[in-house]
Amino acid sequence: MKQEIETIQAEALSAIGAAENQAQLEEARIAILGKKGKLTGAAAGMRHLSKEEKPAAGQMLNEARQAISAALDEKQVVLQEKADELLVAGVDMTMPAAELAAGGLHPLTIVKDRAIQILRRMGFALAEGPEIEDEFHCFDALNTPQDHPARNEKDTFYFDSGKLLRTHTSSVQIRTMEKAKPPVRIIAPGSAYRRDDIDATHHCVFNQLEGLFVAEDVKLGDLKGTLEFFLRHMFGEKTEVRFRPHFFPFTEPSFEIDVKLHVKGEEPKWIEVAGCGMVDPAVFDSINAGRKDELFDSEKVTGFAFGMGLDRLAMIQWGIKDIRLLIENDARFLKQFS
Ligand code: PHE
Repeated sequence: MKQEIETIQAEALSAIGAAENQAQLEEARIAILGKKGKLTGAAAGMRHLSKEEKPAAGQMLNEARQAISAALDEKQVVLQEKADELLVAGVDMTMPAAELAAGGLHPLTIVKDRAIQILRRMGFALAEGPEIEDEFHCFDALNTPQDHPARNEKDTFYFDSGKLLRTHTSSVQIRTMEKAKPPVRIIAPGSAYRRDDIDATHHCVFNQLEGLFVAEDVKLGDLKGTLEFFLRHMFGEKTEVRFRPHFFPFTEPSFEIDVKLHVKGEEPKWIEVAGCGMVDPAVFDSINAGRKDELFDSEKVTGFAFGMGLDRLAMIQWGIKDIRLLIENDARFLKQFS
């Protein structure tokens, strides 16, 4: 028995020493310690031994198993190191990594975020409303008569249901006042839709930022001061701003605001960036008619509203001549902003 175990151990250690990879080492392990392995067989042979012989033989077997296991473990570590080395051989760890294509913010998002940031500092809270609107919120409540050209099928996208794609964000004024209590001071950025012919300054989908301030003593000077402050913060202290009298059904008096657009190598020119005015009492009357608390009594509250074209603001910010660039998503154009 003693000799048998010594032979097995010697053979085992030499097989382990000869193993060149992990598969061969595993093969050797099974041949020795596996269910049908040599050492396992020798252990089974113990039952033929006499009572006196057994303890010594058992101890020998244990020692042999320990020695073989230790050799297996050691060899396993060596082979693993070799495998790791092979894996990274030829890989240059100092080589710069492949460049990731990082995205950037769309210019409209950049302008919108900045506009919100400035207006929030002035106390305006964010509000929103649906892009699929009804005629009441888009027109009627905004004092826009049935025969007004803006309500024409030629100008507005209507659904068969009678609903429509909002033609301006002014509908959010109504949605807000239906629920809020004065004072109200909100801004609402979002898309608006018109059946406009598409050209360098018009698109059928465009982006606006609506503003509304209603309280007890709001004056035209507040409107002018707010918007001038906003535009100078947006485009710089020297920004030239001009208010032109205009007409909107829901404000009286009403104005359009122009800002000077500077394009490299060209004569600067005025471009219209917003409509605004003092909220028409008829709008408050229609809000009041829909609620029981009379909080929007046109004898008590006044307010101003404005609707800015975010696309136009982006055009001024970067001297972009064509609004279509902001909608078409040409990567060559957008990359310039990331
Ligand atoms: N809704 C108007 C437009 O889209 C802009 C506007 C908003 C005018 C609020 C006055 C007050 O042209």
